[in-house]
Amino acid sequence: MKTITELENYLTTPSDALMEDLKKIDGDILILGVGGKMGPTLAKLARRALDEAGIEKRVIGVSRFSSGNLREELEGAGIETIACDLLDDTQLQALPNVKNIIYMAGNKFGTVGNEHFTWAMNAYLPGRIADKFKDSRMVAFSTGNVYPLTNVLTNGCSEDHPVNPVGEYAQSCLGRERVLTNFSHKNKTPMLLFRLNYAIDLRYGVLLEIAKQVQAGKSVDLTMGNVNVIWQGDANEYAIRSLLHVDHPPTILNVTGPETLSVRWLANELAKRLGKEALFVNEESDKALLNNSSKAHQLFGYPRVSIQEMIDLVAEWVANDGETINKPTHFQEREGAF
Ligand SMILES: NC(=O)c1ccc[n+]([C@@H]2O[C@H](COP(=O)([O-])OP(=O)(O)OC[C@H]3O[C@@H](n4cnc5c(N)ncnc54)[C@H](OP(=O)(O)O)[C@@H]3O)[C@@H](O)[C@H]2O)c1
Repeated sequence: MKTITELENYLTTPSDALMEDLKKIDGDILILGVGGKMGPTLAKLARRALDEAGIEKRVIGVSRFSSGNLREELEGAGIETIACDLLDDTQLQALPNVKNIIYMAGNKFGTVGNEHFTWAMNAYLPGRIADKFKDSRMVAFSTGNVYPLTNVLTNGCSEDHPVNPVGEYAQSCLGRERVLTNFSHKNKTPMLLFRLNYAIDLRYGVLLEIAKQVQAGKSVDLTMGNVNVIWQGDANEYAIRSLLHVDHPPTILNVTGPETLSVRWLANELAKRLGKEALFVNEESDKALLNNSSKAHQLFGYPRVSIQEMIDLVAEWVANDGETINKPTHFQEREGAF
């Protein structure tokens, strides 16, 4: 896989299960925050699944569309778009009341020094959104960062593990969940809180970051010695299919791949494919940010793209100097300072 076109085609090829589930979901789909790393391929995946299944449904993407030509690109793919700053209440209230909401907008990077904005974006805005869309069903993106670091031998935190977010980004994400839950109780709005950890695209993500370090002969820090990842196409499928699993109070769902992955092993596997030697610094800690997604796998099946395939694809992409998005995950951060 060498081009963005090939990559996007792969990321947006729907499964039969997605098409079957979409037949059971009434109403159109509104994606809030479509302009980020995941939204464009989520919108295109939904559009393709609906078209291939012969289902009539609008997919509408909402974002500020502040830069680039994403708006034209999405419109070209059959997705309606609305430019809107969700923090502007007049613009928010003017959005159409659509039955299915996939809520992806949030703020992570740049939180340190600008904490008030992150709290407005992640914990105040959800209340405005929940109020506006009280008669819809909603899948709201959250993060595995609401859990504490956990022992690497425990298979990660399940949904019933007590939350204990480290740092203000993660705390504000818990704020989002709590505010949404409050509105779900109050208005009986069915919701699902989608606690995601590390989607993998070839243009960004944990594997790309490790591969780039290996290729450049830089040492990979092993302190955060274990991670979970999931192919972005699988995460997007799970998100759309989650519309069938909303409830009030909200369903909580961890979303990532099935393995607790060793960063050392990942770096060595990438190094083999890149014809390099992986260099390391520090030793693995006995705790890491790990998320147990076995409930999601029971609901939706295991991800379609395996870890070996992701490693192959990322190594090939990096070897061919494929285009990247400069948005590092900072997965090695242990103090929650983003
Ligand atoms: N990617 C991952 O691995 C991962 C892991 C855990 C959690 N998550 C969470 O999952 C969600 C989706 O992930 P992502 O990686 O696609 O996030 P992302 O790259 O941060 O995208 C979110 C998008 O929301 C839009 N947005 C932000 N503020 C807005 C506003 N005021 N009004 C309208 N739109 C606004 C932005 O697009 P415009 O500039 O066009 O407005 C932004 O690009 C995020 O909340 C993220 O924190 C992602």
